[in-house]
Amino acid sequence: MAQAKVKADVPIEALLKEKRKFPPSKAFVKSAVMNRKTIYAEAQRNYVKFWEQRARELHWFKPWKKALEWRPPYAKWFVGGKLNVSYNCLDRHVEGPRKTRAALIWEGEPGDSRVLTYWDLYREVNRFAAALKRHGVRKGDRVTIYMPMVPELPIAMLACTRIGAAHSVIFGGFSPEAVRERIHDAESTLVITADGGYRRGGTVPLKKNTDEALRGAPGVKTVIVLKRTGEPVEMQSGRDIWWDDFVKDAGARCPAEPMDSEDLLYLLYTSGSTGKPKGIIHTTGGYLTGVTATHKWIFDLHDDDVYWCTADIGWVTGHSYIVYGPLANGATTVMYEGTPDYPDKDRFWRIVEKYGVTICYTAPTAIRTFMKWGEEYPKRCDLSSLRLLGSVGEPINPEAWVWYWKVIGGGRCPVVDTWWQTETGHILITPLPGLTTLKPGSATLPFPGVDAEVLDEKGNPAKSGYLVLRKPWPGMLRGIWGDPDRFVKQYWSKYDNIYFTGDGAKRDEDGYFWLLGRVDDVMNVSGHRVSTMEVESALVDHKSVAEAAVIGKMHDIKGQAIAAFVTVKSGVDGSPQLMDELKGHVAKKIGALARPDDIIFSAELPKTRSGKIMRRLLRDIAEGRALGDTTTLADPAVVASLKSKYEEQEA
Ligand code: WT7
Repeated sequence: MAQAKVKADVPIEALLKEKRKFPPSKAFVKSAVMNRKTIYAEAQRNYVKFWEQRARELHWFKPWKKALEWRPPYAKWFVGGKLNVSYNCLDRHVEGPRKTRAALIWEGEPGDSRVLTYWDLYREVNRFAAALKRHGVRKGDRVTIYMPMVPELPIAMLACTRIGAAHSVIFGGFSPEAVRERIHDAESTLVITADGGYRRGGTVPLKKNTDEALRGAPGVKTVIVLKRTGEPVEMQSGRDIWWDDFVKDAGARCPAEPMDSEDLLYLLYTSGSTGKPKGIIHTTGGYLTGVTATHKWIFDLHDDDVYWCTADIGWVTGHSYIVYGPLANGATTVMYEGTPDYPDKDRFWRIVEKYGVTICYTAPTAIRTFMKWGEEYPKRCDLSSLRLLGSVGEPINPEAWVWYWKVIGGGRCPVVDTWWQTETGHILITPLPGLTTLKPGSATLPFPGVDAEVLDEKGNPAKSGYLVLRKPWPGMLRGIWGDPDRFVKQYWSKYDNIYFTGDGAKRDEDGYFWLLGRVDDVMNVSGHRVSTMEVESALVDHKSVAEAAVIGKMHDIKGQAIAAFVTVKSGVDGSPQLMDELKGHVAKKIGALARPDDIIFSAELPKTRSGKIMRRLLRDIAEGRALGDTTTLADPAVVASLKSKYEEQEA
């Protein structure tokens, strides 16, 4: 793992200059779901007991025998307990007054919409689960889901959990090759997709991508295809089946399988600091406990709330805070298929107004985009239903925080900046809006029962250093699919029995946490995790490329943008055409989210005498800074020439 020095992607000076504090209003405190000041101390006294109390809010078929079994780095939560996630998200609500409450409010990009009550969702999930079971899908199987943001996506996920199959949802923006790699790694034999989905006025050809992904994946025996766009697709006979035909005549009820608390719930692939994505393992009881409790307290969920998380379900945010947390809590969760600028830049605010959204959870990159577009778009709409705002995915700069609070929240809505990761399963560092005094730019404090700390290189608590988690938490990853060594090496080898997050952080005089971005070779592009090595492998895969070094450089809107320094093979011309071709090549190999903004051709790359590429220097070049320490370089002249070349190209 890269041992880069902690480096702020957000200039820390700007963060720490922001001295404004926002205590919760009296009115908010009064009706807040969690407003007991003693909760932190209570949880600290016995964090296992604290999480047990949260777990008791779920429905268990059989109670657990032991709350926590901790054999670092492996934790088991609620050992011996039996439950089912879909039962908790559906059955227990349809048995009570929530039966006809809107579970899912869905809006398609073209403007079509659907509202599914808990009863509707229950029926759809039962039917699809019965069809999967009839088809021979068994407990423990991994089902790959590659779908647009339509109701059938959560229906498919919940149906899997109902019968004890694990899902592996792949973001619709990933390329066929990325899909193939993930299907292969998870050894899925069944894929659920759609003909396509709508995006920014066009369509994304998901079935075509799936066909391409499956060339060279003979293990897949069945492809279920939902009709969404109606575009013509090829159906391979014996393998492909339309969703409607698949569920035809399937039973109306499919009992929820009692699952062991530690049974596999899902895999979700994310980028690490090597070229190969890792399948993060999440299990059942602890995960559901974590997402349900955090969702309720952090978003201050009340019965009349309309909650909207704008993420894509292809990312962990969508798993935990569009689907599982909200549905387990019996909430109304909004889901939108498309982009914020279609047909116009006011789309998000139209949705807030149309459905009376009260809680909105989005990403800093989106907020910065809205800032750039200007206030006129939110001003067109009535946003007075909003009462709480959330942010996730990357550090939020104080300026964006204050804009969000003022322009979107009308100065009346607390903003909860929530820190977590795919690996953590649920939010770990966050305000509780009825208790915490907010500081723009800070994720504030660990959730009760969570033991986060900032350590220096030697493992001593420090004001600035590496963010770690010292005690297990219920939603924590249980491993990396098929790669236990990587699990240990990646997260548990920097400090003994302590989880290393890969993030740098600072703490201020009040103990508040200020996140500084990744300290490893992982970039955060518009809140999406991309590994430098993945992009490098995609580049060297191109016939003209000899070598590539990729860095994330600061970007006003995206947080980080991808810059690639490329050495071409001899005889190849580093032309503007090749530049475009290489950008396209990366998008084709990984997905558009990994397309580099800049390609800089360079005869040589700055390397240490042992051959390691000095990314720090490349970052200095790309961000236009004075060059840092170059004494360890094999050939210091290389960076000087690169720097002048880069400046020339930018000008
Ligand atoms: C990385 C995890 C977890 C949901 C989305 C991203 C960064 C996430 C924050 C925040 C500062 C944040 C971290 C983290 N991050 N939320 N509120 N403040 N940084 O999930 O793709 O697993 O990425 O996102 O660097 O390690 P992910």
